[in-house]
Amino acid sequence: MTQLTANSIPSETNFNHSTTSLNSFAPRLLDWFAENGRHDLPWQQHQTDTPNPYIVWLSEVMLQQTQVTTVLPYFARFMDSFPTVQDLAAADWDAVAEHWAGLGYYARARNLHKGAKQLVEVIDETGDFPQTLAGWEAVSGVGPSTAGAIMAMGLHHYGVICDGNVKRVITRWAAIDGDITKSATTKDLWALAERLTPVDDSGLFAQAMMDMGATLCTRSKPACLLCPLEEDCLAHAQGRETDYPVKAKKQPKPSKFSNALLIKNSGGNILWLQRPDNGIWGGLWSLPLQFVEKIDGKAGSKATAKKSEASEDKSLKVASNEKIYETEFTTAEQIINEWLDKHKLAAKAVSKTLLDDAPIKHSLTHFHWYLTPQSVTLNAKQTAEITEALQAAEINIHWLNANDAQATLGLPRAMVKILE
Ligand code: ADE
Repeated sequence: MTQLTANSIPSETNFNHSTTSLNSFAPRLLDWFAENGRHDLPWQQHQTDTPNPYIVWLSEVMLQQTQVTTVLPYFARFMDSFPTVQDLAAADWDAVAEHWAGLGYYARARNLHKGAKQLVEVIDETGDFPQTLAGWEAVSGVGPSTAGAIMAMGLHHYGVICDGNVKRVITRWAAIDGDITKSATTKDLWALAERLTPVDDSGLFAQAMMDMGATLCTRSKPACLLCPLEEDCLAHAQGRETDYPVKAKKQPKPSKFSNALLIKNSGGNILWLQRPDNGIWGGLWSLPLQFVEKIDGKAGSKATAKKSEASEDKSLKVASNEKIYETEFTTAEQIINEWLDKHKLAAKAVSKTLLDDAPIKHSLTHFHWYLTPQSVTLNAKQTAEITEALQAAEINIHWLNANDAQATLGLPRAMVKILE
């Protein structure tokens, strides 16, 4: 097996291991993978001579931040409905969103849909998928590690991956003490990943590294006794496996509080809005929201909410100032909230008991979100009026009951929690 890498080889002294250890890493890993790895995941392409880069691209995006077991049914449905990149590019966004609903990190779905269109353009021009790392990195949502995975596994070209699994395996094996969120450490990790990746077998190696990270070299309970790298793993030698990777402690996430408005018409159908492409839940459907302004540090506790009802403590109030409109509300929500205000309906919906019913807690990347459902029922005239106002602003809306909304719209998981 060739051990030269495609890029220039840094001096071996940059690594914490001997050349013998570095050179034997890949053969040991590949032997382990052949015997003990997973070979039946539906996106794997290592047992075919005609790999499909669409499958690898799609699965890698789904697998970013999401477990294999969660991805499996989503991947199957996606492939059923969009078997080729052309099918995905031609699909309506609503259909894509509906196939993604519940998987989280929705920017990935938007990038996939956009990426499919970009790929179809490349295919129409060149007759094939991109064949270079740079070509893949130019696709929306594809970073260096995903591009490396597609090159290696989806095209059987040379490609290097350095995702979370790989970082965990190699920071342990080489006892790399640098904080992996720092760019200097990232550079060292990429250099080591490149040094370890065999030129001839980079696809198999990538798949083996992912398996090793997912099944043996796990975050909290690594199975070192079964590991082919045990004999020269520097973290294991010190009994410090779980000290790696070193990662700066995350700041605690801030909290946001919102009301989710169940605006019902006289037939019991609920008003749904399609959210704009940018921002939270972009392109998905949600109930209109009212952000609740946090004025002091106590917002969110039931006690505070109760007091606020008694109108002494103003620690919570429904946001209505320009600044919050600009930063938090969609245009649709501005229209709705102003319309409710004008019709004195907001008070009924909102002043009830802020956070009195246990709000639904939903954790996103950058904050915890506490959503409290609030209900308002409109008469036929009011329904027609708000519908007209939203349509005049070219906002996509639906009036659907909870069952139909779940069955036909792409709803984020938080909305499903509210309906349930
Ligand atoms: N995680 C990321 N990519 C993966 C893959 N191809 N197989 C298993 N787990 C993964």
